[in-house]
Amino acid sequence: MTGELGRLPEPPGLPVIGHLWRWTASPLRLLEDGARAGPVFQVRLWRPALVGYRPEWNRAILSDLDTFRSRGSLSGLSPYLAAGIVHTDAPEHRPRRRGLSGHYSARALAALEGQLAAVAEARRPRGDFEALAWSAALVQDMLNVALFGGALPPGLLSRFLRPLHHGLPAPMLPRPWMFRRVEAAIAAALADPAPGSIAAGLTAAADGAPRDGYRPAAPETVKDLRVALAAGYDTTSHTLAWAAWHLASHPQWRDPQALPLFLDEILRRYPAGWLGSRIATRDCMPAGIPVPAGTLVLYSPYLTHHDPSLWHDPHLIRPQRFASGRPSWSYLPFAAGPRTCLGAHLAQLILRTALIPLCHGDLTQSGGDPAVTAGITLRPRGPLHMRARCPRR
Ligand code: HEM
Repeated sequence: MTGELGRLPEPPGLPVIGHLWRWTASPLRLLEDGARAGPVFQVRLWRPALVGYRPEWNRAILSDLDTFRSRGSLSGLSPYLAAGIVHTDAPEHRPRRRGLSGHYSARALAALEGQLAAVAEARRPRGDFEALAWSAALVQDMLNVALFGGALPPGLLSRFLRPLHHGLPAPMLPRPWMFRRVEAAIAAALADPAPGSIAAGLTAAADGAPRDGYRPAAPETVKDLRVALAAGYDTTSHTLAWAAWHLASHPQWRDPQALPLFLDEILRRYPAGWLGSRIATRDCMPAGIPVPAGTLVLYSPYLTHHDPSLWHDPHLIRPQRFASGRPSWSYLPFAAGPRTCLGAHLAQLILRTALIPLCHGDLTQSGGDPAVTAGITLRPRGPLHMRARCPRR
């Protein structure tokens, strides 16, 4: 391989600036046009990139951490994500990830269910509410409880997370002073962790015997928790806002038992992590496509989840399509492989718990703009005005 990209189809662009203007104006439209051109296509951004969305591409890119690294990819553009486990590549990724995964497993999180339910009840919407504001405040509280037993000062947390609500470039701008303050607050929470919190589990692990030869150092744990806050916040709160919105128009799914299927479908239709990226470390042939070392390679859960050859009527909300399970490599709301979302179980627990109060009483949409908008994560353009009436006792 010469280091040059081969001739792959491209979506319509302009001769000199390529696709950058379309990327900035409407990245989803650009990707959809690319997908019509072929299963792997090229886009010319500030650097050329290859985008694929078929299951065989997803498997090739996501299962081989030696060939496809995270450092230097798009996540490195945001200081919120360019640290901790997100910024760690093979071979260090594996032991570091093992040291974290157990603390975010469904089993470890079961102990938090009661506390999270109490937060959801306290923030249950009554009367008119705006779903994006409600979900943001609720997810912020729930992450604080799950990670730190609620010990992080809420005002500081909200100022730290605020840029993630705004479009680009806000989440890309460096905020060294704010990050230092949040890291100091996380370090204080780790020094005297709330019993049952994820911070308590991580502190115990740091004090105990190494696991798989790995024992996290305190500064690494602080960074990992800071990254978890950022990675878990807008992803989960935007998903929750969409779920509340559609729950109002799909009353048959307003049943706590049915929420897991309903959420599977919301995460398919609106995958907050709509685009993922890696850098090829060597010349390689993922899914039979020649890729030179150094190429920016992208996978798109959004395109995969809307591929009509994989999903019937992909733009419709049909939770029952998950009744027979979740297909691997064609369903990627939390990515897949060794870098699959660390917080997937926590996100699902938060989403389920937050929606249970909305299963009872009346819930209606009263106006707004749910159009899909892609920034650092996928979000409804908003606002989403809704009305909730609690059941009579
Ligand atoms: C609905 C909510 C969420 C969605 C849709 C989501 C989606 C994703 C996706 C697609 C990735 C893979 C990115 C890539 O490498 O290309 C990822 C990674 C990650 N997520 Fe999530 N996420 C959610 C919630 C959370 C929560 C609640 C946390 C933590 C508290 C979290 C922490 C992380 C971390 C640390 C990684 C990097 C894992 C690694 O590189 O090993 N996420 N997430």
